[in-house]
Amino acid sequence: MTDDLILRVSGLTKRFGGVTAVNSVDIELRRGELLALLGPNGAGKSSLFNLIAGAVKPDAGTIEAFGQDVTADPAHKMCAQGLARTFQIVRPLAGLSVLDNAMVGAFAKTHSVREAQRRASTALELVGLAHLSATKAGSLTLGFRKRLEVARALATQPQLLLLDEMMAGLNPAELDKFIDVLRSVHREGVTLIVVEHVVHAVMQLATRIVVMAQGRKIADGEPRTVMASPDVVAAYLGDEYVVA
Ligand SMILES: Nc1ncnc2c1ncn2[C@@H]1O[C@H](COP(=O)(O)OP(=O)(O)OP(=O)(O)O)[C@@H](O)[C@H]1O
Ligand SMILES: [Mg+2]
Repeated sequence: MTDDLILRVSGLTKRFGGVTAVNSVDIELRRGELLALLGPNGAGKSSLFNLIAGAVKPDAGTIEAFGQDVTADPAHKMCAQGLARTFQIVRPLAGLSVLDNAMVGAFAKTHSVREAQRRASTALELVGLAHLSATKAGSLTLGFRKRLEVARALATQPQLLLLDEMMAGLNPAELDKFIDVLRSVHREGVTLIVVEHVVHAVMQLATRIVVMAQGRKIADGEPRTVMASPDVVAAYLGDEYVVA
């Protein structure tokens, strides 16, 4: 694995009963990329995240990250090595303040309260939530809750951040702000994989797009080329929409 390669999955496969959720997927990711992972519902995007994050074990294939084989590493070890992820459904600890929620992330890597506070504050600053540090997380709007989720992941000081459908349900103003937040995070040097259905947002952000359908990778490359490919159009809209 060369130095600038942060992640390589090879032949990655996960079956749930009769369903092959992830089917022999190969992906290489270089440091500094912002990769968008697209695909219809049930394509296997969240399952791929769960595999990379060490939350579930693959049936076949390997995962290399940060220069080593991490195929068998559990989630806490992946976090310690520099991986963070958010979940499709955001659930902050409603009774705690915004700062305390972000500190929960920081405590994954430090036992010092002062240091956790510092890392949490830096993360809240980056996502534009510093002014709400003392607010109870339960009273935040969805747009702010999603930014808090990103801050909580950032407080673990990741090298690689996986974001699962963070833009769903946001209104246009919240969406614009969220896109800005992701740009700031990317500028800070964090490598990102974002799962999204909001294609126009993805086209503004992604340096590369991978598309999955029925567990398989069906396209991988430069955003405009990928979105124009017949396989991708067919996966989203059906074969009848492919221009011959
Ligand atoms: N824990 C599980 N047990 C059984 N089947 C599962 C499990 N997790 C995922 N699946 C199945 O694997 C397939 C892929 O699901 P996955 O959630 O990875 O898709 P997705 O691309 O994230 O979809 P969405 O866009 O709807 O979030 C689906 O058929 C799903 O029902
Ligand atoms: Mg999903």
